[in-house]
Amino acid sequence: MTPHRFMPSGPLTGRVRVPGDKSISHRALMFGALAVGRSRITGLLEGEDVLATASALRRMGARIEPDGEDWVVDGVGVGTLLQPDGSLDMGNSGTSTRLLMGLVASHGITAAFTGDASLSKRPMSRVIEPLSRMGANFTPSPGGTLPLMMEGMQPAVPLTYRLPVASAQVKSAVLLAGLNTPGTTTVIEPVPTRDHTERMLRGFGVAVTVEEIGGERHISLTGPADLTPCDIVVPGDPSSAAFFAVAASIVPGSDLVIENVGLNPTRNGIYRVLEQMGANIAYQDEREVGGEPVADLRVRHARLHGIEVDPALAPSMIDEFPVLFVAAALAEGTTVTSGLDELRVKESDRLSAMAAALAAVGVSLEEREDGLIIDGSGGAPIRGSANSAVESHLDHRIAMSMAVAGLASEGGVAIDSIEPIATSFPNFAALIEDVTA
Ligand code: S3P
Repeated sequence: MTPHRFMPSGPLTGRVRVPGDKSISHRALMFGALAVGRSRITGLLEGEDVLATASALRRMGARIEPDGEDWVVDGVGVGTLLQPDGSLDMGNSGTSTRLLMGLVASHGITAAFTGDASLSKRPMSRVIEPLSRMGANFTPSPGGTLPLMMEGMQPAVPLTYRLPVASAQVKSAVLLAGLNTPGTTTVIEPVPTRDHTERMLRGFGVAVTVEEIGGERHISLTGPADLTPCDIVVPGDPSSAAFFAVAASIVPGSDLVIENVGLNPTRNGIYRVLEQMGANIAYQDEREVGGEPVADLRVRHARLHGIEVDPALAPSMIDEFPVLFVAAALAEGTTVTSGLDELRVKESDRLSAMAAALAAVGVSLEEREDGLIIDGSGGAPIRGSANSAVESHLDHRIAMSMAVAGLASEGGVAIDSIEPIATSFPNFAALIEDVTA
């Protein structure tokens, strides 16, 4: 574990380009692996989570190699994934695990999934349940966790499944299983979640239909499906950009352009909420990249004020609450969040991890079962950590959020370990240095 102290900084200025979107990068590799022929990916996130997906897909027969700045994927086709030898190490990555379980579920192969201490605590029953109904067989660890063995079923049985939790990973697992399942597989989403799977499958030539029925989204595809290889450009990750947007908003004098930020409406909740809090965000050069809306964001320091965050926005900013809590800690007045039970089953229990870390650096807050209530400093720097480092709990987003808190503190914030940041944003600390230099 490498501890690191993020010191109070001067204004964030200039321009910064964050790495490719993590969700889109996983999917680009997986769909490339399912297409027969060569796909090219520009802007792939080269973080540990995405590399875990790449290495698992290689073990199942795909060729995946860097090619200059790009990556090329030579896919094996739907229905012809190979039996992997040995277990698939998913590291810290829930997305790799749950989506790949969907792929394996409808192939006649067996696979063992393992992960790190954080991933091994996370619930897998949410995918085991629907994929079992499609015919796959699972032997998880007690509590429905990793390490886990699974046996796919070929041909699997198509399923119509209403999501009991708002989860794009569960939605995607079922749809990916459906690709090699004869007949129509449908996922019903009472609450919309990120739609990268639907968008990108269409780009690979799969007829995905989306119907609004009684306020719910019915997403269907018919298997077995053929994927046509294609070239994909991955936009910058709005979740990674959020750390810079919050940092520029709370550090006085900041004026920062964050380039190439994906703004898919199922992902941009953090920017809408920051604006409700008074953030100064200008959307420049709005355009489309790889079928996703993208813009450069110019973010200037602003006096933020506390708000009651609409719980209906949660799915569109589910990974951004840790850094939103930091914005709230610097705002004037109280910020109330609720409806965030899902945050307890992410890479860490993000409600308790952020409550403990923020309290340790002098922020006044209350932890509720489903959210935090935070009393902001009114813009004054927060105290910062004393002797002991705050705990990141093997969670990249806790580490990066507390790093941002350090920039707007009196004494800096020490974090127990910054290694987890490499799962999603390997050059985070270097970019922070660049824009605060
Ligand atoms: C993701 C979906 C979200 C998100 C995760 C990535 C995806 O998880 O938290 O970081 O790529 O589908 P859930 O599906 O559990 O909500």
